[in-house]
Amino acid sequence: MTKIQPIALVSGATRGIGRAIAQGLAQKGVKVLLGARNMQVGHAVAAEISTPDARVEAVELDTTHQATIDSLMAMIHEKYGRLDILVNNAGISLDFYPDIPVREKLSRTLETNVVGTAALTDAMIPLLEKSAHGRIVNVSSILASFTSRGQADWIYKDVAMPTYQASKAALNSLTLSYAKLLADQNIKVNAICPGLTATDATNHYGDRMPDQAAKVAIKYALLDDAGPTGTFANEEGPLDW
Ligand SMILES: NC(=O)c1ccc[n+]([C@@H]2O[C@H](COP(=O)([O-])OP(=O)(O)OC[C@H]3O[C@@H](n4cnc5c(N)ncnc54)[C@H](OP(=O)(O)O)[C@@H]3O)[C@@H](O)[C@H]2O)c1
Repeated sequence: MTKIQPIALVSGATRGIGRAIAQGLAQKGVKVLLGARNMQVGHAVAAEISTPDARVEAVELDTTHQATIDSLMAMIHEKYGRLDILVNNAGISLDFYPDIPVREKLSRTLETNVVGTAALTDAMIPLLEKSAHGRIVNVSSILASFTSRGQADWIYKDVAMPTYQASKAALNSLTLSYAKLLADQNIKVNAICPGLTATDATNHYGDRMPDQAAKVAIKYALLDDAGPTGTFANEEGPLDW
């Protein structure tokens, strides 16, 4: 019997951790739809990371533009009839831009990291419901953990990124809500932290590379039916909310 090839959508997959998640899933034989705001870049990245068994397909997706979400949903419905994995990776961080007023900083960050994620998730639920094993992975951050933030000896105790931390805390809350809403459909919804990683977002700080950071997202994207839902974890294991 031939195994059905899972279909995954990764938002914000043109670079950084999203690109590594897309590549890692393709290497595991998953059909990846690579979310890109710029289709020229998307096609180029898709060609670079495609494997002989899994051709990566660039798809237009800006999570702050509902029209791209709606068209993508219609395209996946028509072409594939279902979606097995949604990785909500697209995210921004504007805390280190002192010239942007806080109102604009917070609205833009919430619009991408929270509103856009919820809108994409809602649009894809009918397609995930068509899968026998739907999985949603929200790419969050340990910096949003209220429990950790309250601990005096926490490694990131001195970090204060008000808008980013608020956005990822809201994303964590969405994770718990969607996990509850979708539990009866065998759609597992988990939040992960990829760890501090050298990408454009961190000005390539440190030596942790996106392919390492992607591993935990890939693990939760490929959870079997006995796996958890409504959890928050990094590569070392469960994290406190
Ligand atoms: N790097 C870290 O240390 C770290 C740690 C914890 C969590 N994270 C999280 O991991 C995720 C990826 O981060 P990263 O470091 O890889 O960031 P990155 O290198 O800045 O890449 C961000 C990606 O998101 C896309 N994107 C931004 N806004 C979008 C929108 N409105 N719609 C669709 N795509 C959008 C970008 O597309 P364009 O190429 O078109 O701009 C790009 O592909 C984020 O959610 C981030 O918060 C990162």
